[in-house]
Amino acid sequence: MHESPVIVDQATRLRELALGAYRTGGSRRSHVLAVCSGKGGVGKSTVALNLAFALSRNGRSVILVDADENLANLDVMLGVAPSLRLGHVLRGERDVEDVLLEVAPLLRLLPGSSGEAGAPRMLRPRQLVEMVAELDARADFVIVDTGAGIAPTVLEYVRAADEAFVVTNSEPTAIMDAYAMIKSIVREASTTRMSIVMNGVARPSEADGAAQKLQTALRHFLRVEVPVVGSIPYDPQVLRSIAAQDPVLRAKPNSSASLSLLALARRLMQQTVINEVRIRS
Ligand SMILES: Nc1ncnc2c1ncn2[C@@H]1O[C@H](COP(=O)(O)OP(=O)(O)OP(=O)(O)O)[C@@H](O)[C@H]1O
Ligand SMILES: [Mg+2]
Repeated sequence: MHESPVIVDQATRLRELALGAYRTGGSRRSHVLAVCSGKGGVGKSTVALNLAFALSRNGRSVILVDADENLANLDVMLGVAPSLRLGHVLRGERDVEDVLLEVAPLLRLLPGSSGEAGAPRMLRPRQLVEMVAELDARADFVIVDTGAGIAPTVLEYVRAADEAFVVTNSEPTAIMDAYAMIKSIVREASTTRMSIVMNGVARPSEADGAAQKLQTALRHFLRVEVPVVGSIPYDPQVLRSIAAQDPVLRAKPNSSASLSLLALARRLMQQTVINEVRIRS
């Protein structure tokens, strides 16, 4: 039994209703967010999983796609053992609906496969993303957790998304790799909107300094402005929650990492509403 002290942000919800922009029911397609990085192990899956929980706790329906085709592990982080996975969809053996697993209220998981990168497939990443985003029972948000590194498939998942969160910690190696990832996205002339998420932050001043260096390099060499949308502290509860196979946002919703992730989710909800209103007007 998991208690939820997380309260729906009434002000945000009312604002959305007043704007007539609340997504459920109205829109043709889900808002697709790809979570990527350059360096591995910086917290992509942690951010994707807990952001999905944070959005669903705030009344948004979410489909979480484990698109790490090499070493998928969201199912392990959730303590579920699905028999059908992404590979079945990519090989054309199953429809997306057959594979989706309800893991919490308003939250469905498309479980990933392991060791399938480069395996024969019927569907390109873009086709898969479109299928998920346009399901009859579509979600408000589709969150795609990608694998580490700048592999062609990862870039395809990013290109298929409306926006991408590039996750990094403040280590110089991770910052360099985040730069390389953003450079690859820019080079491919992707229209995907990008933002930086700092994760595992031990000292906020250090993370701010690292993020500023990254932003300066991006501005100077690539002529792009990439905002920092979130800063998630280093929190031992994250490690405990992984050991317990219970996402930190569900197990410890008031922990420092959970509160930052909830703030990030609220930002994403408000941002998405603003964009929709712009598109509609
Ligand atoms: N904010 C945090 N505080 C403490 N530990 C964290 C935090 N974020 C992630 N971790 C830890 O870092 C490790 C890697 O996290 P995660 O699996 O989310 O990274 P990843 O980028 O998805 O890795 P991969 O590149 O292998 O897919 C995990 O053991 C997780 O517990
Ligand atoms: Mg991962």
